[in-house]
Amino acid sequence: MDRTVRTVDDVLALLDGLFGTTPETGRLATGDGRDYWDRFYGDRSRPVPFFVAKPDENLAAHLDRGLIAPGRALDLGCGPGRNAVHLAARGFEVDAVDLSPVAVAWGRERAREAGVDVRFRCGDAFALGAGELSGPYDLIVDSGCFHHLPPHRRVGYLALLDRVLAPGGLFALTCFAAGEGGMGSELSDADCYRERSLHGGLAYTPDALRRVFADLTEVELRRMREQPAESPLFGVPFLWTALFRRPAH
Ligand SMILES: C[S@@+](CC[C@H](N)C(=O)[O-])C[C@H]1O[C@@H](n2cnc3c(N)ncnc32)[C@H](O)[C@@H]1O
Repeated sequence: MDRTVRTVDDVLALLDGLFGTTPETGRLATGDGRDYWDRFYGDRSRPVPFFVAKPDENLAAHLDRGLIAPGRALDLGCGPGRNAVHLAARGFEVDAVDLSPVAVAWGRERAREAGVDVRFRCGDAFALGAGELSGPYDLIVDSGCFHHLPPHRRVGYLALLDRVLAPGGLFALTCFAAGEGGMGSELSDADCYRERSLHGGLAYTPDALRRVFADLTEVELRRMREQPAESPLFGVPFLWTALFRRPAH
């Protein structure tokens, strides 16, 4: 007979355990998602839209419009570093973290080729200590990591933002959009646990995002704008892009 729950971490680990580690049911954003992502990035020739070395169109637009000014940035779940490299080229001091050593190695190559400095870290962003991700960051970018979290791990995600996002700092999020033309599972949080599956990633409505990030102020929330193949930017229509600001006080 198991009586394993004593602390909040025990509860979170128990809930993690309800989900498998396959892409379909998926604990893809906790430490044991690492092998999945390593295999995912192992073949660079696969036609995965975000394998391109182009920054998110919304991030580039925010920079061009002066909504985001250079400072210290964190790319959370950076993959092969598309956005991290772009931010470094635009004058940011960039930390970038990913679970997958294969993705981080690819990101380092891209940074070298682009002639920019990015401080890559490999590991579970929510488990790294303050010594590794200390902040405060003027900008935190998450393109495609948040939507892989199981609902109960949002608590740790918000705690990380709270710990490392500077007062007045910006949070730029890109995640699966619920509704027409969207992508990701529209199961309710409760049904994820009933079905014991994250179905590859969770879709969000604008109101759900506003609720989760209620401690931040919305600057912009819109669909990503699709980009033609020849565009220097990345853009697919099935994602939300959001920019939030942390109140200065
Ligand atoms: C859909 S990919 C997006 C990669 C990259 N941001 C991009 O857009 O090209 C999601 C990434 O989040 C990373 N990831 C998931 N959970 C993580 C965690 N707990 N800590 C760090 N990285 C994580 C995965 O390894 C994966 O590279």
